[in-house]
Amino acid sequence: MIVAPSVLSLDYSRMNEQMDEVNRSKAEWLHFDVMDGHFVPNLTFGPDLLKGFCKVSDLFMDVHLMVTDPSFFADVFMDAGADQITFHYEAMKDEESIHALAKHIHECGKKAGLSIKPKTDLAVLEPFLNEFDLFLIMSVEPGFGGQPFIEESLDRIANLKKRLVEENSNALIQVDGGINATTGKRCTEAGVDVLVAGSYIFKNNIEEAVDSLF
Ligand code: DX5
Ligand code: ZN
Repeated sequence: MIVAPSVLSLDYSRMNEQMDEVNRSKAEWLHFDVMDGHFVPNLTFGPDLLKGFCKVSDLFMDVHLMVTDPSFFADVFMDAGADQITFHYEAMKDEESIHALAKHIHECGKKAGLSIKPKTDLAVLEPFLNEFDLFLIMSVEPGFGGQPFIEESLDRIANLKKRLVEENSNALIQVDGGINATTGKRCTEAGVDVLVAGSYIFKNNIEEAVDSLF
């Protein structure tokens, strides 16, 4: 199991201190939410901030693009140090463009993830089960931290896990939104490999909160 603290909830007035705590914790990934104000009604980080995080941490940089033009921003964030680019199914115009972007990310030597919002049918992932390193099941509407976990996500995770096993896919399942010790445990029981948590980690003692997710 991998824990990926989401820096969306980091206290930017205490950035060094909080990053030291993250680096000391058992977290292996750092989750970096890129929002463009169009795909979601919120605006977050540009590539220079990711470069800064790369300087202060050796964690795996997990970039979650919530933007209307993932093909453009994938390159921007790979150049800035992303180890993995996850983009949204809903932002892409057709299946072909999803295949093409996954291929491009892999050709750049990075991992590729595909995400779906809570109301998107799980079946849309079917053509891609063997093409991505990770599938991200959003357990809140993307855009903001601190929202409650959507219960229906558990069935979606279990169904996706079943399909990945049937297809002999090694892809990881990630969940993002409303994760704490309780919801996190239920998600791992349902088949999740990577837990993203923002407010739960950064609004508590960071090392203890990460420990509680295992
Ligand atoms: C929401 C983001 C999440 C967010 C989760 O759109 O993708 O990564 O940080 O925040 P919490 O853990 O507070 O729900
Ligand atoms: Zn995210």
